[in-house]
Amino acid sequence: MNQNQLTSLLEQMTTEEKVGQLIQLATPFLKGASDGGQITGPMVGMGITEEVVQNTGSVLGASGAKEIKNIQETHLKDNRLGIPLLFMSDIVHGYKTIFPVPLAVGCSWDLDLAERSAEIAAIEAAVSGIHVTFAPMVDLVRDPRWGRVMESTGEDPYLNSEFARAFVRGFQGDFENDNQRVASCVKHFAAYGAAEGGRDYNTVDMSEWQLRENYLPAYKAALDEGCEMVMTAFNILNGVPSTGNKTLMRDLLRKEWDFDGVLISDWGAVKELIPHGVAEGEKEAARKALEAGVDIEMMTECYVNHVQQLIEEGSLDESLVDEAVLRILKLKQKLGLFENPFRGADEQLENELILSKEHRESARELAAKSAVLLKNEQVLPLDPSQKIALIGPFADNHDILGPWSWLGSKDDTITLDKGIQSYASEVKIAEGSGVETSSNIQLDLALKAAEESDVIVLALGESSDMSGEAGCRADIRLPQVQLELIQELKELNKPIVTVLFNGRPLDLHGVIHETDALLEAWYPGTEGGQAVADLLYGTSNPSGRLAMSFPHSVGQVPVYYNHYNTGRPKNAPDAQERFVSQYLDSPNGPLFPFGYGLSYTTFTYDEVTISSQELKEGETLTITTRITNSGEKAGEEVVQLYVRDTTGEVVRPMKELKNFERISLQPGEEKEVTFDLKEEDLRYYHSNLEYKSDRGQFEVFVGPHSKQKSSVSFQLIK
Ligand code: BGC
Repeated sequence: MNQNQLTSLLEQMTTEEKVGQLIQLATPFLKGASDGGQITGPMVGMGITEEVVQNTGSVLGASGAKEIKNIQETHLKDNRLGIPLLFMSDIVHGYKTIFPVPLAVGCSWDLDLAERSAEIAAIEAAVSGIHVTFAPMVDLVRDPRWGRVMESTGEDPYLNSEFARAFVRGFQGDFENDNQRVASCVKHFAAYGAAEGGRDYNTVDMSEWQLRENYLPAYKAALDEGCEMVMTAFNILNGVPSTGNKTLMRDLLRKEWDFDGVLISDWGAVKELIPHGVAEGEKEAARKALEAGVDIEMMTECYVNHVQQLIEEGSLDESLVDEAVLRILKLKQKLGLFENPFRGADEQLENELILSKEHRESARELAAKSAVLLKNEQVLPLDPSQKIALIGPFADNHDILGPWSWLGSKDDTITLDKGIQSYASEVKIAEGSGVETSSNIQLDLALKAAEESDVIVLALGESSDMSGEAGCRADIRLPQVQLELIQELKELNKPIVTVLFNGRPLDLHGVIHETDALLEAWYPGTEGGQAVADLLYGTSNPSGRLAMSFPHSVGQVPVYYNHYNTGRPKNAPDAQERFVSQYLDSPNGPLFPFGYGLSYTTFTYDEVTISSQELKEGETLTITTRITNSGEKAGEEVVQLYVRDTTGEVVRPMKELKNFERISLQPGEEKEVTFDLKEEDLRYYHSNLEYKSDRGQFEVFVGPHSKQKSSVSFQLIK
């Protein structure tokens, strides 16, 4: 179908049919679904008639080639104009081959593997009939109390933007010509990651300057990479809910950024304009959301019950509806649905491709690269001859896939005990405690196993419902029973290696000093237990680097590396003892900074050299250093380049990540790493929101993490 045919299709549509395209319903509403017709819970009161279902434009959460083909086939018979349905789902970090959660992927600093993980997720989803994934989530995050930090790639706008691009490339590929890719929907627009107090769905209030400097770049990067759709956020932004926010969607997204793809509300977010207190009822909510630019209303009924009346009354311009419908039809056309409504759905390919050996190998590789070694007092790697006591609630727990792995199965998941058993000659397994509750029997068994061992491997963490959406915590320590378990084991004076399975940077009080080694494994996915064992036994060398700072305690939150200096910085040479920006009872900085992570080998950096002391517009500076693997194992290092603009028109961060490179070195091997820096890389938002650079002095830092001190400097000449 070409543009003219789409327009003529639109002309044939009744208002009801048009409005139908603007609604997204869950699978149970659809005839042809295996659970079709089972309208339960809040769905009952939505007043969705059979006619509405026949006109519906898209479906949320269906999966499986057979199921989706059935729904589509039935729908095409019922829909007067034969307009195919769009199937959308949250395929966030894998379909059935589950990859580590996005925060973990962020810690891999490996864009190629991240792209490949999204590609594999897309392949598995597409052969199962899905057309659009609600990913990537690119909300910048600074507050680990927020459960959804695990869905993001962390605290840095540059790193987030690079991952946003990689994920979009992976999901979409050439989806217009390739049925084994899906369209991608970036979310949540905008600044959902800044919810006050780290509490989900909560208020966001920030200057436009801050928004543009840190929070918007990753959404923009996804769109620059060709991302087809955008999802609104639940939060208000500067007083106006994102889902009814004209400035955000019409002015910024549509006009300034020229986005002409489909904009969908988050789940129920149109109707939430009512409890937010900016719409009196459903009718006003529908008008506000449409006027603000929301094309599809997800899972509530404001559009379907009120848009037609709004048009008839003359209080809503029908052209807004037409525009929205046309955008949706265009997406259907791009996906090739008018020619082939079943698109990639294929039962045979599902059998061949889903959880294939190749897909699982990629998941194992990415899980190994995502884990971050935070401490190692010469206990790791383990030796297969050592007797192991594997203790803790995650010792043989399948709950290591993390939130948004709704299609991942327990039976396909490699748990830690399985992984360790593939190496160790002797392993005794005991829980010791549950995730949040415990019993004396469990503890006794654990102590006995520990006494008979050479090394204790302690598998601790948060169950997956302790993070993710609505999984916020005000206390981000491990649950008390787990802290007690460590204390008990510590009494035995055996080496303790702790592995953490969790979704956020934790407050490590009660863990970090008590343990001899600590590996942050996050929720590592289907191959998680194997990948962690590979790391513990040194088959893989840890190379993950934190994409989000670990605070000393929750009282410091938010703590992030790219903060400003303040007028009274604590470490200034002339700083007073008291009247400086500090806590009396805690350091200012994090326990483990952004970019940090250990390896089983050591990397030595030569002095950094710079091609010139001056940079002029149109020129390129090169910054070079040589890195040597000075240890005894092959390993990978993430070389990071940071810049500080020492004087700006507005304040500048203490450091800003500008580039990085992951290199692989054999023992004794050395490599030169060169980064380019141009005037464009030094631009920032001024107080009048102009985006440009200023002449003056810049410092450059190259090293293994964001606390790197040694630097070179140059002048930007204008
Ligand atoms: C989440 C979105 C998700 C949507 C659909 C919402 O509750 O905030 O991230 O895409 O549900 O499942």
